[in-house]
Amino acid sequence: MALDIQSIRADFPILERVLPNGKKLVYFDNAATSQKPKIVIDAMTKFYEQYNSNAHRANHTLAEEATAALEHSRLSISRYFGTSPANLIYTSGATEAINLAAYGWARYNLERDDVVVVTEMEHHADIVPWQEMSKEKGIELRYVPIDTKTFTLDMDAFEVALEGAKLVCVVHTSNVLGVRNPVEDIIEKSHAVGARVLIDSAQGAPHERIFFDNLGADFVAISAHKMAGPTGIGCLLVKSEAMEQMGPFMTGGSMIRRVTTEGSVFQEGHAMFETGTPRIAEAIGWGAAVEWLSQFEMREVHAHIQDIASWTANQMLEIPGIRVFGDPSLPGSSGAVSFLHDSIQSQDLAFLLDEGGFAVRTGHHCAQPLMDALGVPSTNRASFWIYNTLDEAQAFVSHLRYVCERFA
Ligand SMILES: Cc1ncc(COP(=O)(O)O)c(C=O)c1O
Repeated sequence: MALDIQSIRADFPILERVLPNGKKLVYFDNAATSQKPKIVIDAMTKFYEQYNSNAHRANHTLAEEATAALEHSRLSISRYFGTSPANLIYTSGATEAINLAAYGWARYNLERDDVVVVTEMEHHADIVPWQEMSKEKGIELRYVPIDTKTFTLDMDAFEVALEGAKLVCVVHTSNVLGVRNPVEDIIEKSHAVGARVLIDSAQGAPHERIFFDNLGADFVAISAHKMAGPTGIGCLLVKSEAMEQMGPFMTGGSMIRRVTTEGSVFQEGHAMFETGTPRIAEAIGWGAAVEWLSQFEMREVHAHIQDIASWTANQMLEIPGIRVFGDPSLPGSSGAVSFLHDSIQSQDLAFLLDEGGFAVRTGHHCAQPLMDALGVPSTNRASFWIYNTLDEAQAFVSHLRYVCERFA
């Protein structure tokens, strides 16, 4: 069944927003964060209005309702990702998920001179924790370069970097280039040399269904707020045998079984890593988001986004002075279109686009090593999602053309 974009748009109150300058909002900053359907906002409001309480602590009615809703969400979310609730550790987002893999797994399992492979196209969230781990443990960090002509990962260099690796950390889909890395191949090759694999799916999960148990990765980091869920929550999906090797990351309440003045005994499994008051409202909101998303065939959603992105990128290339980084028509591409004008500064361009009502991201996108490889300090980025339309893209391209003609 074809997607009914107008009825999808009706689920998102914010898409009706008119900006202070009277322009209707056109939201093309989805790779930064997606908008939230009303069902998610309502689920969180209902929690705060009707059964706000702490979870896993008391026996009164509200506490039991909050606990049941929290655990129901864990079930819905883990099912959505094709795994069991025991393999899902809630975090504050993809950044904390990767830090949890670094401080909860690598710190306990890697030794001096062990090799961790990352790529030049990682978000800082998948670079800085490994740099810190390198300082702390003396591990060797190897960066796989990108091919700056095709904007794809250099897979020959990847195979060379893999020699002797203990852990491989790769972004599923680049937040700058939109390119989807061949993660299945990467997982297979990494496992063949005995390395564990972490996939940063902050940008992958909003565009394709991830079936964790089939994918075979040891760790997958996910962010709820880029896939219709609220901010402040995400998860690390962890294979059972990797979770058994993990030790505590943060300590305190909830993650303990018994505390005496002599010491503490920790919970086992995911409970060891969920410290303090759980993210109850956020988990409920994310549960509602995955239930909302489940009504769609993600292949159709993705095809819709890619059509808009490919059309937009092709049109932009016709505008004198515009360079596009990446190719949204590549299989699996998320449709993020990074671009730069050769004489209008990216920030100025962003303001000029905002004046037309178009929200795009500008900056280094938390990917400075990638910016260095591309030889630019920053880019503008238009990123599309399920509710965007070709009409919006047409209006965007014609405003961009006007701005470039007028201000270049
Ligand atoms: C590829 C990638 N990884 C990690 C992150 C960090 O995600 P979060 O905001 O959930 O911490 C982002 C956010 O933009 C991202 O694009």
